[in-house]
Amino acid sequence: MNYEKAEQTIKKLLISRSVSTVLQEIVDVLYEEFEKYSWVGIYRVEGNMLVLGPWKGTQATEHTRIPLGHGVCGAAASSGKTELVDDVSQDKRYLSCFVSTRSEIVVPIKKSQAILGEIDIDSDRPAAFDAADVVFLEKVADMLSSHI
Ligand code: SME
Repeated sequence: MNYEKAEQTIKKLLISRSVSTVLQEIVDVLYEEFEKYSWVGIYRVEGNMLVLGPWKGTQATEHTRIPLGHGVCGAAASSGKTELVDDVSQDKRYLSCFVSTRSEIVVPIKKSQAILGEIDIDSDRPAAFDAADVVFLEKVADMLSSHI
């Protein structure tokens, strides 16, 4: 796992690739680069809904449309703040997608004050995400704000 390498790869993709494919490619980089990232997806805000865009993982989620305010995803989209859940079984807001998930991070993608979407990552490891993931993923979310 290498935050700097992943950041450079993502920067290069954003410069060289077309808008239509770059989000999927970035999701793929995150999934491939970090073993603890068991499922990676990008949701877009459409009206009062979060709508799933590109994702990568071993399974599809049934939660392809999440109302704002619902779940950990909806909480992050409503507050505009990163949500970090060390133990999903202890978080009442959690909407279960995969039985294997133990922890989750959701990072809003913002432009000025507007919340455009979010990066959602599930991990099969308990408490998989720490401050380094928050810093890194908030940087990635920032880079994505013109491409979502
Ligand atoms: N667990 C999320 C739902 C999305 S899935 O993890 C892909 C939530 O609680 O909002």
